[in-house]
Amino acid sequence: MSKKDFVILTDYDRKTLEEIIQRARELKGGAQPQRGKDKALAMIFTKPSTRTNVSFRMAMHRLGGTSMYLGNETLQLSRGETIEDTGRTLARYVDIVMIRTFDHVDVENLAAGSTVPVINGLTDLCHPCQAMGDVLTLVESIDCELSEAKLTYIGDGNNVCHSLINAAGIFGFKLTVCAPPQFAPSPAIVRPMQEKNPSIEVVSDPQSAVVGADAIYTDVWVSMGDEEEAEQRYQTFGDYQVNSQLLQQAKDSCIVLHCLPANRGEELTDEVMDGPRSRIFDQAENRMHSQQAILEYLLGTV
Ligand code: CP
Ligand code: NVA
Repeated sequence: MSKKDFVILTDYDRKTLEEIIQRARELKGGAQPQRGKDKALAMIFTKPSTRTNVSFRMAMHRLGGTSMYLGNETLQLSRGETIEDTGRTLARYVDIVMIRTFDHVDVENLAAGSTVPVINGLTDLCHPCQAMGDVLTLVESIDCELSEAKLTYIGDGNNVCHSLINAAGIFGFKLTVCAPPQFAPSPAIVRPMQEKNPSIEVVSDPQSAVVGADAIYTDVWVSMGDEEEAEQRYQTFGDYQVNSQLLQQAKDSCIVLHCLPANRGEELTDEVMDGPRSRIFDQAENRMHSQQAILEYLLGTV
């Protein structure tokens, strides 16, 4: 066995990710954890977090292990120690490392320096753990096979959107990304996934994008690190709000997803977020179950 990292979904094939999702369902249903007892997870955060922090802590606790929160300001990283040396050192103490940061290359370098598995807990490029919780939520919530489902993502072509595109390429569900042209997802992410799954499309009109959707997904208009562009973004995204009027264009059974945190009244209304179609808090819960399965899988590779 050689240690595996969980840095971007495209490092994995469909079969492996489906097995992790299936295991997450079993763990959610009360299955006994197989490994994790007395193991330790270190979590580096250079951005804030509610769900990723607490869901990973509880996932590790449920596996019988322990975890520690390492805020950037408490680490020598903030005084110039390299990410590779940080990884080399942490690997001498703990069994697995999770990091949330800005530059995706930092996660790749941490993984290169670490002899234990490294998990991406969000970068500016992607949020693979979020997408795994999202797939689990889709599988549980929609009334058709995942491969038959249509997901429409409305808003910024950001990290969360990129991981949904990767998930659509790997799992094979239909995906329409609806974004203003200047905030469209990266072609470097979109093109290879379109080769695997030609149903992936990038459009800019929300009203037509949601027709036939089994799920509508949105995220904030101003992500962590984008604050300087806030004014331009608020002006551009005004027509991309998920509200009751937009939902009427989708299937009657269409559910609504959001990775959270939400800015109520911006990318979605209170009525939609608190309404009967929202599965948003199930989705937040599923972060814990899917990450428990990811931790179990990675701990089995060392
Ligand atoms: N969705 C998500 O990653 O939430 P946090 O920023 O609270 O971790
Ligand atoms: N796109 C958001 C996701 C937060 C979980 C951000 O990066 O801030």
